[in-house]
Amino acid sequence: MNVFDLFDESQRPKAPPIRGATEQHRSVGRRLAAIHAMHLSALDETKEMMERVQQGEAAATDLAEQVTSLELLDNYRRFGNLCGRECQFLDFHHTSEDNEIFPAIAQNGGEEFKRVIARLTEEHAVIHRLLETLAMNVVDLQTEPSSANFVRTRSTFEALYRAVGSHFNYEQTELEEAIGYYGLL
Ligand SMILES: [Fe+2]
Ligand SMILES: [Fe+2]
Repeated sequence: MNVFDLFDESQRPKAPPIRGATEQHRSVGRRLAAIHAMHLSALDETKEMMERVQQGEAAATDLAEQVTSLELLDNYRRFGNLCGRECQFLDFHHTSEDNEIFPAIAQNGGEEFKRVIARLTEEHAVIHRLLETLAMNVVDLQTEPSSANFVRTRSTFEALYRAVGSHFNYEQTELEEAIGYYGLL
């Protein structure tokens, strides 16, 4: 299977409605969406810095500058720092889901929920590999802030951005009732 097939909404298993789940449960479940929104805003901040670097590179090329400007070097580092911070935040978020939320739902929710949790766990594994690659890209970019290292970091970040946005949507929709019903947040 292509890695991005995992993030294809039409191929993802769906969670069944939980009999007995109330609006109160769903409102507790929506805390996950609020946590995701914080991560998305940090990712957007990182993306904005990435775009600023791209604009800086384009301006440097327009002027045919041989020496990379100090501002550009500084922005390579800033982009690297933001990516590094996101790697840690997301890793922490996924580890707590893997350890605390997923096992409880897989154990109590029945077969259909087991399939959803299996898919979410696979998605975490793919995202984890992207985070590891991004962390390595960041080390290279910080050691040698160059256009080549920026391009590599940008490409991993873009894949991560796309994967995480899709994963968050799926997860917060399918687990909304279960998180409240089983008291997991
Ligand atoms: Fe997740
Ligand atoms: Fe999550």
